[in-house]
Amino acid sequence: MTTATAPGKIILFGEHSVVYGRPALAVPVNQVKAVCQIEAGRLGQGIEIIAQDLDQQFNLRNAPIDDPLAAVVRQTLATLALSATPDLVIKVTSTIPIARGLGSGAAISTAIVKALGEYFRQPFTPQVISEIAFEVEKIHHGTPSGIDNSVVAFGQPIFFQKGQTITQLKVHTPLTFVIGDTGIKSPTRQVVADLRARRARDVDLYEGYFDEMAAIVIQARDAIEGGRLRAIGKYMTENHAILDKIGVSSPELNQLVEAALQAKALGAKLSGAGWGGNMIALASAEEAQTVAQALNIAGAIHTIVTEVKPPVS
Ligand code: PMV
Repeated sequence: MTTATAPGKIILFGEHSVVYGRPALAVPVNQVKAVCQIEAGRLGQGIEIIAQDLDQQFNLRNAPIDDPLAAVVRQTLATLALSATPDLVIKVTSTIPIARGLGSGAAISTAIVKALGEYFRQPFTPQVISEIAFEVEKIHHGTPSGIDNSVVAFGQPIFFQKGQTITQLKVHTPLTFVIGDTGIKSPTRQVVADLRARRARDVDLYEGYFDEMAAIVIQARDAIEGGRLRAIGKYMTENHAILDKIGVSSPELNQLVEAALQAKALGAKLSGAGWGGNMIALASAEEAQTVAQALNIAGAIHTIVTEVKPPVS
């Protein structure tokens, strides 16, 4: 049996503006993960896919062309260029909440691609895994920037800009984030499409907001690489204010951001597509539990405390 895993993710800065070519920063979240297990199937059965958490079980032969799980398996098999369809049982499980901006779709794809590569002893590079997962993100999201599949496939903090080589974000000082879940599904495809329509009515205004966010991302990267925690927090709260202005926040997200700031978080913002899903707060390691408690009281259905560590040199 072959097993592969992939982490969840949070976007620290630059969601939405990243769709319009501006830079963004994202980090993996290892407290949640997708797991793919592959074993040999019965002779002639083809490929059986079992995804309990998604309530799905089917044979690849019968799967529609736009089914995301089937698509990732088909794309991977095409890349492996095997001489015949193998007989396999592919089991997928995930502890990453679905449609909350934590990268569940990208993680499930990544775990499947990785496991298939390892099963057939042709392990893929993170770049190839990311490219296959990106094709599937298009089914989920319509016009994805590619940040989700990149951060999940590379499994490390990244500076991302569409069409450019991904660079590592060199975290200087450990960063403790508290993730608060509104419990509301965040329909990425819809939020992105809605923003696209609003932008079309006033391109200059929205391009101006995206430029403001890009400037924050660049300053935030410097602050992260210089270990300036207060500045990072300030930029997060500023980024949130613009996300709210462009119409992708929600009363529930704003309430959690406010509660985190009241509880002395260094900064807070929504993370991912918005309208629901998760928000993140930067806290000192000592204050993280207090911030998590404040988020629970303010209505978060779930909190995760995660630490982003400097790279091991
Ligand atoms: O975090 P998610 O998976 O909901 O995606 C959001 C990121 C966006 O910038 C809003 C969209 C994208 O493709 O980058």
